Amino acid sequence: MYLISSVGNLLITSLVCLASTLHTPMYFFLCNLSVQDMLYITSILPKLMAITVTDDTSISFTGCIMQMFMFVFCLDAEFFLLTAMAYDRYVAICKPLHYSAIMNNRVCLLLNVLCWIAGGLNGLMHSLMVSKLSFCKLQDINHIFCELKTMLAISCSDTSKIITIILIEGLFIGVIPFFLIMTSYIFIISAILKIRTSAGRLKIFSSCSSHLVIVILLYGTSLGFYMKTDSENSQEQDKLFSLLYIAVVPMLNPLVYSLRNKEVVNAMKTLFKITKLTVRSQYYNK
Ligand SMILES: *[C@@H]1O[C@H](CO)[C@@H](O)[C@H](O)[C@H]1NC(C)=O
Repeated sequence: MYLISSVGNLLITSLVCLASTLHTPMYFFLCNLSVQDMLYITSILPKLMAITVTDDTSISFTGCIMQMFMFVFCLDAEFFLLTAMAYDRYVAICKPLHYSAIMNNRVCLLLNVLCWIAGGLNGLMHSLMVSKLSFCKLQDINHIFCELKTMLAISCSDTSKIITIILIEGLFIGVIPFFLIMTSYIFIISAILKIRTSAGRLKIFSSCSSHLVIVILLYGTSLGFYMKTDSENSQEQDKLFSLLYIAVVPMLNPLVYSLRNKEVVNAMKTLFKITKLTVRSQYYNK
């Protein structure tokens, strides 16, 4: 999974950088999402593989805090990026004539940078707070990585404040973006329904279907996990669920976007043709 995700996301990133037909806001967002996916899995999966191979399950405190930082940073950035992408699709479909004016390069860059900064600040806040907690003795973390809630559970300091912060934050990181995405899609769907021909409908819908699939995947797996109340035997479920959004979703993102998308496939074909041509011309020059 790590290999497929890395290769897939690297492919998307290089494709968007190389193919000028993909230099549009939607693909810039996608490219940022891919970079963030790569960071995300790289901070968790190699360590998990090392643990599996060597049977040495220890992790340093610094390593643990860093993993937690990356986890919060990337997950938050992903939610914000998906929200920005939904807004981008809304403008493209419902206000097509104003699209290039509204989604200009500056706005696109600003939205992307904001997503990264907001995620980064939140990650920093959580890792600082957890690094101040005391962990009385050598502790077992019953999870596949240093996950925030699990870390709080094994601390012997008072964590009620942090837990309240997480709940309130859930509103701003999970619930509000989710409603913004839903609102965008309500407008998009009503715009699609107004189109008379079914071919026209399909064409418009296909430009946002990949995004919709990823939103459903990510929200389905991660929100359920963070919003539900804790019970004793839910830890095993938690681990399984988190594996879904740590390993499966980052792997599916590039697949969903590249295989189902004509623009990406065409860009890939064009690029391969160009490389073939240059290889050939080099050959003749020799
Ligand atoms: C992220 O988005 C910005 C703004 O549109 C774009 O310029 C940049 O190339 C993207 N970065 C990556 C790494 O994809």
